[in-house]
Amino acid sequence: MNNTQFTPRVFSGIQPSGGLTLGNYLGAIKRFVDMQNQGDFQTVYCMVDLHAITVWQDPAALRRNTRELAAGFIASGISPEKSILINQSAVPEHAQLGWIFSCVARMGWMSRMTQFKDKAGKNAEASSLGLFAYPALMAADILVYHATHVPVGEDQKQHLELTRDIAAKFNHDYGVDFFPEVEPVIEGAATRVMSLRDGSKKMSKSDPSDASRINMTDDADTIAKKIRKAKTDPDALPSEAEGLKDRPEARNLVNIYAALNEQTVEQVLAEVGGQQFGTFKPALAELAVSKLSPISTEMARLMDDVGEIDKLLANGALQAREITAPILKKTYEIVGMVG
Ligand code: TYM
Repeated sequence: MNNTQFTPRVFSGIQPSGGLTLGNYLGAIKRFVDMQNQGDFQTVYCMVDLHAITVWQDPAALRRNTRELAAGFIASGISPEKSILINQSAVPEHAQLGWIFSCVARMGWMSRMTQFKDKAGKNAEASSLGLFAYPALMAADILVYHATHVPVGEDQKQHLELTRDIAAKFNHDYGVDFFPEVEPVIEGAATRVMSLRDGSKKMSKSDPSDASRINMTDDADTIAKKIRKAKTDPDALPSEAEGLKDRPEARNLVNIYAALNEQTVEQVLAEVGGQQFGTFKPALAELAVSKLSPISTEMARLMDDVGEIDKLLANGALQAREITAPILKKTYEIVGMVG
């Protein structure tokens, strides 16, 4: 399969299922902004509300979280002039292609998804059918744009491999060269930001402990306090990355520092090697506050005028459908539906 026939296009999405964390920011949004500004791609970013309801969402909270996520995108630097910003349910072709892909994907593939196993927990029987089918809709989100590149955090890697499998099976079954081979873009120092309380667990909005994460809406004092209390070990920081190998908590804080300051881990360690956490943590807190506070202030300002956010999203949906409607129409023709 040769991708040269496709327009270089980026697609990525975030669930509006609660507040944004530093993990979402460093692993995803900050890199969405970079790819937007790089200018090599057309960029499409999405609030995936259809994915959010695979687990229960209170309707009023979903409405608010979707707008707040849009505000988070814009406040972080996603420009509605440079990128297409949409809410998934406002572009019906996502769900329509999602159904076709549910008929392409195999039960066996879906049951191997670790995210499903984690989210369904011990009681898979009681989880929604949507939670099981989740990755087929995710593949549709991407492929309904013929997107070629997808920036995500490490935890989405398996879903993107499945997206490639679905595209390949569709192309093979129907004897076409229609869907591209998607490139996952999992890069930088913070592709997996860990909990501040446990270096073996991912930082997550669903962790019961608020101290485990930095929320994009946390104020400066809260951010500083959470970093001060972050779990660490008693040793000084090493001067080389090799020295972080068996020190997950130390590695996490250094990774966060590097990603926020747009440095490599090696550059950070060259500066802070030999420091105790008593010195490093306040420096990290200061850096985090200086980068995150302007974003949370701007998010709050944008949330004062939700009418403006709704207008931007309505416009984004119109732009998106110019891409998705012809791709869906062609898919229907390939499948044999009278179009
Ligand atoms: P979601 O909403 O769980 O997370 C959104 C993005 O944030 C990244 N992320 C992290 N990165 C680093 N460290 C962390 N601790 C961390 N936590 C979250 C995720 O990797 C992701 O990039 N299935 C997706 C949403 C989705 C999607 C798509 C993504 C739906 N359709 C199409 C890409 C393309 C999800 O649940 O992300």
